[in-house]
Amino acid sequence: MKKISLSLDIVSTGKYIPSAVITNDDLEKMVDTNDEWIVSHTGIKTRHKAVGEDTSDLAYKAAKDALEKGKVDPETIDAIIVATITADFASPSMAAIVQARLGLNHRDITCFDVNAACTGFVYALQMATALVNTGPYRHILVIGAEVLTKILDYTDRNTCILFGDGAGAMIIRQGQPHQKAFFYTASEGDIEDVLSVKEILRMQGRRVFKFAINAVEKSINRLLELDEARLDQVTKIIPHQANYRIIDGVAELKKIPLNKFFLNLEHYGNTSAASIPIAFDEYTQEQPLREGDKIMMVGFGAGLTWGGVVFTR
Ligand code: UT7
Repeated sequence: MKKISLSLDIVSTGKYIPSAVITNDDLEKMVDTNDEWIVSHTGIKTRHKAVGEDTSDLAYKAAKDALEKGKVDPETIDAIIVATITADFASPSMAAIVQARLGLNHRDITCFDVNAACTGFVYALQMATALVNTGPYRHILVIGAEVLTKILDYTDRNTCILFGDGAGAMIIRQGQPHQKAFFYTASEGDIEDVLSVKEILRMQGRRVFKFAINAVEKSINRLLELDEARLDQVTKIIPHQANYRIIDGVAELKKIPLNKFFLNLEHYGNTSAASIPIAFDEYTQEQPLREGDKIMMVGFGAGLTWGGVVFTR
C-alpha cells in the first residue's frame, strides 16, 4: 500500500454509558464463574447494560455529549459515520437515525455505518479522516456504539462475562499540516467462526487471545514505521479494551511500560466498536491533549480485523 499522511484535528469527544451495571457477582448467579476467575483472567469488574435503549439511542447520546463538550454547531456536521455490529436493525443505518435525532434531516449529509467489529472505530475514523482531507466536509461525527448484551448468551461463561454496552463519539476536522495522522487497517477473512455474531456472539477465546497479541504488536510496529517515530515519542496508546492480559502480554513482549496504555476495561468490559472512543474520551477528560502529543489507537476483532492510527496534536 502507498504511504499517505493525512491531517487530523480532533475537535471534541463524548460518551454515553447506560446506567445499569452487571457485576461479577451478578454473573456468578447466571453461570459457573466467580469474581476471582473473571478479574484474574480479564481484569473486568463491571460492565453496563442498556435497558429500554438500543444502539441508536446510545449513539445519539454520545454524539450530543461530543457536540456539547466541543460547543460545535450541529449545522456544521457534514457527515456521520457509526461503527457498530449491533445496529437496531439492518436499515436504515444508525448514522441516518442519529442524523434525524439531531434534527439535521433538512441538510445534505453523508451518513453510513461501518462493520469491522471491535476494529470498527479505527476503520470509521480512517474513512472520516480521508473524507475531511479530500471532500467538502467541515466537521465529521464519528461514533462507535454497541448494545452487545442483546447478542450475548447468558448461559455461555466463555463470552457473557466479557462484554458490555456503551457508545463513544468524536468530532473531527481537517488539521494543520503538522497534525499528521497515519492509518493502518487490515483483515484476514475467517470462515471458521473464531469470533462471529450469527444472532448470538460465539468465540474461540484462546485463538482470539493469541491473534490479539499478535495484531496489537503488528499494528504498533506498522504505525511507528509509517510515522517514522519511536515508541518513547508516543504519549499514550489507547488500545481496544478487551482483556487486561492482552495488553499486559503486548507490554511485556515489546517492553512497553504498562502506564503507556490507557485502560478502563475494569468498568465497562469489552464494548467492541465503542471501546476506543469511550477510552479516548475518558483519557482526554483526565489529560487534555497538548500540542505535540502523539496518540496511538489500536484495535482488533472479528473479521478477523485489526489496525490503528497514530496522530500528532
Ligand atoms: O474484541 C475481541 C474479543 N475477544 C477477546 O478479546 C477474547 C480473547 N480471549 C480471552 O480474553 C481469553 O481467552 C478468555 C478470557 C476468554 C478466556 O481465558 P483463558 O485463560 O484463555 O481461558 P480458557 O478459554 O483457556 O479456559 C480455561 C478454563 C477452562 O476450563 P477447563 O477446560 O480448563 O476446565 C474454561 O472452561 O477456564 C474455564 N472458563 C471459566 N471458568 C470460570 C472459561 N470461562 C470461564 C469463566 N469462569 N467465566
